[in-house]
Amino acid sequence: MKYNFDQQINRFGTYCTQWDYIEDRFGEKNLLPFSISDTDFPCPPEILSTLNKRLQHGVFGYTRWNHPRYKTAIRQWFMKRFFSEIKEDWVVYSPSVIYSISKLIEILTVQEDHIVIQTPAYDAFYKLIQDNQRVLSTNELIEENSTYRINFEDLEQKLAHPKAKILLLCSPHNPTGRVWTREELINIVSLTKKYGVKIISDEIHMDIVLAPHSHVPILDVADNLDHVYLCTSASKTFNIPGLIGSYMLIPNEKVRNQFLITLKNRDGLSSASTLGTLATMEAYEQCSGWVDELVMYIQENFLLIQNYLEKHLPMLSFQIPQATYLAWIDVSKLPYSSEEIQDALVHHGKVAIMPGVTYGYSGQGFLRMNVGCSKDKVMEGLHRLKKAIQYLESTPL
Ligand SMILES: Cc1ncc(COP(=O)(O)O)c(C=O)c1O
Repeated sequence: MKYNFDQQINRFGTYCTQWDYIEDRFGEKNLLPFSISDTDFPCPPEILSTLNKRLQHGVFGYTRWNHPRYKTAIRQWFMKRFFSEIKEDWVVYSPSVIYSISKLIEILTVQEDHIVIQTPAYDAFYKLIQDNQRVLSTNELIEENSTYRINFEDLEQKLAHPKAKILLLCSPHNPTGRVWTREELINIVSLTKKYGVKIISDEIHMDIVLAPHSHVPILDVADNLDHVYLCTSASKTFNIPGLIGSYMLIPNEKVRNQFLITLKNRDGLSSASTLGTLATMEAYEQCSGWVDELVMYIQENFLLIQNYLEKHLPMLSFQIPQATYLAWIDVSKLPYSSEEIQDALVHHGKVAIMPGVTYGYSGQGFLRMNVGCSKDKVMEGLHRLKKAIQYLESTPL
């Protein structure tokens, strides 16, 4: 390994959401956090060196993203990582993935239209649909032994509704870690086509995919590119969301222009983040090897969890996910409610692990543990999880 993912950097005092503001979500300070999905890893040294040089320059005026280097870096990343050919014209900068999705929903639909999502789902999806006054339509994934698959019959029913206008896909899927296969994506595309529903595909987790699985960008399987929108970012992979910046691939020229007008004229956000765009270009140009090592490290973290749970907490079940750095742990065999488990984790284990219900009703009985961190921290988290459960076991029901 060329890079050191074992190194632990103290993040306290950096105003970071994960460590400094853990109390906001869990009601307690001094918890070991495995919560919001950023990682504790520093970004690759290649990016740091470029950012340092840029900081030395000292002038941070308005900056642009719409130039060949930015778009070429993205096109080549898609070719290198996914063997996917995209056109540079499709690239549009956006401050964040959720902003992109929200604006696309605004542009493509009207109030009361249905947006279909697959549940359990990333919590921001619920909020952005509801706060845009659109109707949430849920296609619950089928779970068997912690492995998830799509209920296509139900999906068809939801897409067939006359008000269904968008399928908001999460590919790979947070929180279940599923990587949708080419066949599944082809089925999805054909159903959406049948009912005239557009697809917005959030592919922010596309880089952290564990072998033998491979990510297929939605644009590779869609036959009518005018109805498919891919939103993604380098931020999750390289741990740079605080630098701000994401992008979309929009083949539909009319919608692309509508988005750009909204971004520039209405929302006044077209000047990109200097450091965010620079880091994205550097990441995509120089850091493919770093991502390969990151994925291996995450896989080892998942193995640690699997071995630990088998040995110390056999009532919990866990399947190594196909993608993401999020462990989705089944605690449904424990005879305790989600509230009791959270209470024990926070007050007795002193550990912050997301309750599955955060991701909707069907997440009940699960925990989502972020393992984008050192092995030592994962082990400490597991000890704390065990301590919390031992406390529950020692307390009369
Ligand atoms: C599926 C998914 N989409 C979007 C985001 C957030 O992206 P952004 O901060 O660019 O809006 C996350 C972060 O957890 C995520 O998991």
